[in-house]
Amino acid sequence: MIHSRIVGTGSFLPPRVVTNEELSKKLDTSDAWIQERTGIKQRHIADPSQASSDLALEASRRALDAAGVKASDIDLIIVATSTPDFIFPSTACLLQAKLGVKGCAALDVQAVCSGFVYALATADSMIKNQMAKKALVVGAEVFSRILDWNDRGTAVLFGDGAGAVVLAAGDKPGVHASVLHADGSQVGILSVPGNVCGGKIIGSPFLQMQGKEVFKLAVKVLDESAREVATAAGIRLEDIDWLIPHQANVRILEATAKRMGLPRDRLVVTVDHHANTSAASVPLALDEFVRAGKIRPGHKVMLQGVGGGFTWGASLVTM
Ligand code: UT7
Repeated sequence: MIHSRIVGTGSFLPPRVVTNEELSKKLDTSDAWIQERTGIKQRHIADPSQASSDLALEASRRALDAAGVKASDIDLIIVATSTPDFIFPSTACLLQAKLGVKGCAALDVQAVCSGFVYALATADSMIKNQMAKKALVVGAEVFSRILDWNDRGTAVLFGDGAGAVVLAAGDKPGVHASVLHADGSQVGILSVPGNVCGGKIIGSPFLQMQGKEVFKLAVKVLDESAREVATAAGIRLEDIDWLIPHQANVRILEATAKRMGLPRDRLVVTVDHHANTSAASVPLALDEFVRAGKIRPGHKVMLQGVGGGFTWGASLVTM
């Protein structure tokens, strides 16, 4: 049987750091409130000249270097993003051109903060079905562009960044199992309810969220999808070395680890210095812990997404 395995990781954060202190000069908020309610201390914000494909390019180059794979060897590119450079073509096509290659399949996945897990599961299936041998799977976002910077309820929560993995065919797993879910009836609790029509914005171009509803649903579905993917993989929850839930709020992360009975030191937390980078949060966190030598070959890692749609999902992988 053909399996797929993560053979390299990379990430990129735009250099500009915006602290809570800086935000509190423009908004009716405080470092103390943001840290207490979310665990966030700072976020990286892209320069106006940087688009998702630019952040994706840097993360991809680092993942390819780590994997020892040339861009020309990649036969599938999937970019998870809700902040694409253009309406079309896809950010994956733009990334392919920036990598200087052509010919391989390239597509975007739109599953908001679950995007990376959706993209990983899609690439894994395509490798198992022999439609690809080496896939570049990327989460890249410039959420700063869709925030109302006068809305303290949302502006303090998000940041920009990108993370990438190279997923390659092999004879050992790899990706043991993935589960994906959505509930479109929950569209109202987290959305950017706008579009472009006749040269005008129809609806709103800004992120809108009912924070408490999102919080409650996130904790519930993260717990459910963790159990479901562990069962599908035939791996006990207590045998997981690292849990990487979507980095939305440290209270959501800690509640998830607690419900799963996992000790705090197996929970990966980067939301404190990245904030919520949507589809980029999981691969960014993965790369940080791989490069720090904490996540090592052979470790069992659970990756989890949850976000707008409502969407959620999980993958269980051996590194
Ligand atoms: O990727 C998934 C996307 N999002 C999430 O996962 C977010 C999930 N939700 C959350 O993380 C939390 O619900 C929030 C952090 C958004 C909010 O925390 P909360 O404990 O649910 O607070 P709240 O919305 O109930 O607000 C409590 C108070 C309110 O004031 P009143 O009505 O009690 O007077 C808010 O107006 O805090 C106020 N508030 C703020 N105060 C200072 C809301 N935002 C801020 C702020 N600074 N930035």
